[in-house]
Amino acid sequence: MNLTLLKTQADLDDWLRQSSNDQINFVPTMGGLHKGHEALIKTASTFTQNDSSSVLVSIFVNPLQFGVNEDFKKYPRDLVSDCTKAYEAGANAIWAPAFEDVFPGGEDSHFKIQAPLKLKKYLCGSYRKKHFDGVATVVLRLISLVRPKQIFLGEKDWQQLIIIRKLISDLGLSVKVQSIPTIRDEDLLAYSSRNIYLSKEERSKAIALPKILNEASIAFKGNNPIDLEEIKDYLESNDLSVEYVEAVDVKNLTPVNIHKSTISLLAAAVHCGNTRLLDHTLLMKRKPIVAIDGPAGAGKSTVTKIFAKKLGLIYLDTGAMYRAVTWLIQQESINCEDVEILKKALNNLKLDIRLSNKGNQEVILNGKNITDKIRSPKVTSQVSQIAAISSVREKLTKQQKQIGLKGGLVAEGRDIGTTVFPNAELKVFLTASTKERAKRRAEDMKNQGFNQPSLIALENQIKERDRLDSTREIAPLSQAKDAKELITDGMSIEEVIESLIYMFKEEIPEEVWPTKSWQSL
Ligand code: PAF
Repeated sequence: MNLTLLKTQADLDDWLRQSSNDQINFVPTMGGLHKGHEALIKTASTFTQNDSSSVLVSIFVNPLQFGVNEDFKKYPRDLVSDCTKAYEAGANAIWAPAFEDVFPGGEDSHFKIQAPLKLKKYLCGSYRKKHFDGVATVVLRLISLVRPKQIFLGEKDWQQLIIIRKLISDLGLSVKVQSIPTIRDEDLLAYSSRNIYLSKEERSKAIALPKILNEASIAFKGNNPIDLEEIKDYLESNDLSVEYVEAVDVKNLTPVNIHKSTISLLAAAVHCGNTRLLDHTLLMKRKPIVAIDGPAGAGKSTVTKIFAKKLGLIYLDTGAMYRAVTWLIQQESINCEDVEILKKALNNLKLDIRLSNKGNQEVILNGKNITDKIRSPKVTSQVSQIAAISSVREKLTKQQKQIGLKGGLVAEGRDIGTTVFPNAELKVFLTASTKERAKRRAEDMKNQGFNQPSLIALENQIKERDRLDSTREIAPLSQAKDAKELITDGMSIEEVIESLIYMFKEEIPEEVWPTKSWQSL
């Protein structure tokens, strides 16, 4: 085993010089490594497979994040065991600095960060007053010394994760925050460095915490009410002294009514003897919805399909629905100007988008499989026109909303985030410059064997299409206020999908991703 143990700042600087400096996947820890840390390091090392990056694990018991009566002095410190575990999990180097290396000249010589009041008002923040300021201060300091590409944090400390993400976004740092779900022992107790404080007897009591949270999440899925006071009573009756049991919004961490909120965090902190334990579960009313809007030629369909497949979400192809109606209108020679006739056809419309046994999307209209028929050039030439008819739009938007009631889907279009799913958990406005879109269009035409107009001509066509799409009366292309813009210039399809997954992760904790609980929702 080639053990690189860095101690001083000079050691770190030397090592950084030897590694490709901006390619560090950084796992900050306070030591006392357990399976949760090992999972973080393993995840970090998966990123080193495709590039020349390295995994650096820091071990620094940060005094700034401990309160006066907390366990700073007795916090587990076993460098040999930590090094072994970190290396076995895939770390390239361990940095175990002394206090002076992180804060030369002492704590008072350094800037200190104050975590946003709003994010530390509830949960642990209201009991551990200086804790998150101490965490933010040290994390910023560590990041400024290491200058990593990514840092890896556990979802277990959800409030910490949200605060660090906000720190990084507020300061405009380019480091990415990758998170991983809570790792649990066989008895469901979440791994924590502090678990080693528990006696055998205490440990058997401690499992009441994950047990009741798990039961609450199952009860919630079954539409049963959740009573926070009952949870507290249960914990107390198991000899656990409750610090808090709170339900908060998963993003802004303010109290919510869990029965009204789509996704909330039910978190609890208890004392088991002298050991403080923290845990949470996520309560979801329905599966998540992702809305992807953007102009023509931004590559939405390609990436949306792959993204949906990767996350086990249904790809709701709203375009296929408009194509199906267009096909019907053409097939039955319906005169769209005749409001009554069109209304009757729409009233009788039974449109179903489903997955075949082979996993392909099938479009069934009034019992007939028209999957291939809707891709004909004849349908293509008229679909925009039909999609702009208000009664058609109304009918299909209503059906799309109906499909969305159970969630678990990603839809792509022009007005998904604004009109169809204004409550989508993630809204992305996927776009690219007209120059880039013209380049892609030319490439497509070349691949399909068509003559390509000049890039300038293509750019002008795209500009005109954008103008028409954004100024039309019915369902104009528009970016929802809360949509995240993703400009895909110069990005490969894989990079766009990776960015979408990263954005999704920021909204929906991985703990409730498809393979976990939402399959049963
Ligand atoms: O989660 C931890 O171990 C610590 O809070 C951290 C992020 C390493 C900062 O000291």
